[in-house]
Amino acid sequence: MSRISYVNGRYLPHRDALVHVEDRGFQFADAVYEVFAIRRGGLVDEALHLARLARSLVELRIAPPMGEAALKLVLREVVRRNRVANGTLYLQVSRGAAPRDFVFPKAARPTLVVTVRPQRRQDPRLLEEGVGVITIPDIRWGRPDIKTVGLLPNALGKQQARDTGAFEAWQVDRDGRVTEGTSTNAWIVTADGEVVTRQADHSILNGVTRYGLLQLLGGEGLRLAERPFSVAEAKAAREAFLTSTTNFVLPVVSIDGAPVANGHPGTLTLRLRALYDAYVAAQVAAP
Ligand code: PDD
Repeated sequence: MSRISYVNGRYLPHRDALVHVEDRGFQFADAVYEVFAIRRGGLVDEALHLARLARSLVELRIAPPMGEAALKLVLREVVRRNRVANGTLYLQVSRGAAPRDFVFPKAARPTLVVTVRPQRRQDPRLLEEGVGVITIPDIRWGRPDIKTVGLLPNALGKQQARDTGAFEAWQVDRDGRVTEGTSTNAWIVTADGEVVTRQADHSILNGVTRYGLLQLLGGEGLRLAERPFSVAEAKAAREAFLTSTTNFVLPVVSIDGAPVANGHPGTLTLRLRALYDAYVAAQVAAP
């Protein structure tokens, strides 16, 4: 069965799913995106992703390509046509195609692209053994809270991590405090049991997984703080972990090559992962 992708009103074989050479997403990274997890053929946290998409579009003054109800139908149709039970859905909206000019085009219509990809089950070793992160300077622009496709610093950082055998790179601001990973949010559990993640201001992407986990933490009566933490604090932490749509909750067991605590996944981290898995499963359970 061939893969089908959606481009501006058409469902096309993936190899024919193309946008114009003068699309502003291509020339200026003038575009926003979302990545949704698909489980049992359903979209996880769809409403949260659509709300964040709407916010990103407002922040950049890009017109929504269609109303939300119509967009939801398109997302479902792309999942259906590809018969993907477990995987990811990628959605991108650019300001459209127009002769290259920094000024916003008057006539361009936004470009909407939707693709889906099946995903093999996450390698269980990532959860059993945990992953390593390195720390790198955060060299991104001032608004990483907007989910734009301007991801070059993120790609460079992720590649640097992989080149050194690490899974992820935690980006660090000028004050020595962790902002977030290149495609994940960063968390620690302090020696006295406080769960810490940076506050969702302009310095990080307000992760949907981060948000979901914060709600679950509240229900567990755990102590949590949304504040910056330094690299030194992270290295002295009892536990560390990362969150994202594609990784859910993953234990971080080393930072810059030094083990976090005893170098094994933390017990609280594993409990949070189980809680999060159950939260996802409940969303997509057959009625
Ligand atoms: N990345 N921080 C950054 C910089 C991200 O790009 C992402 C998501 C996250 C986690 O957000 P969420 O929990 O909503 O996935 C944090 C996606 C998955 C990606 O670019 O593939």
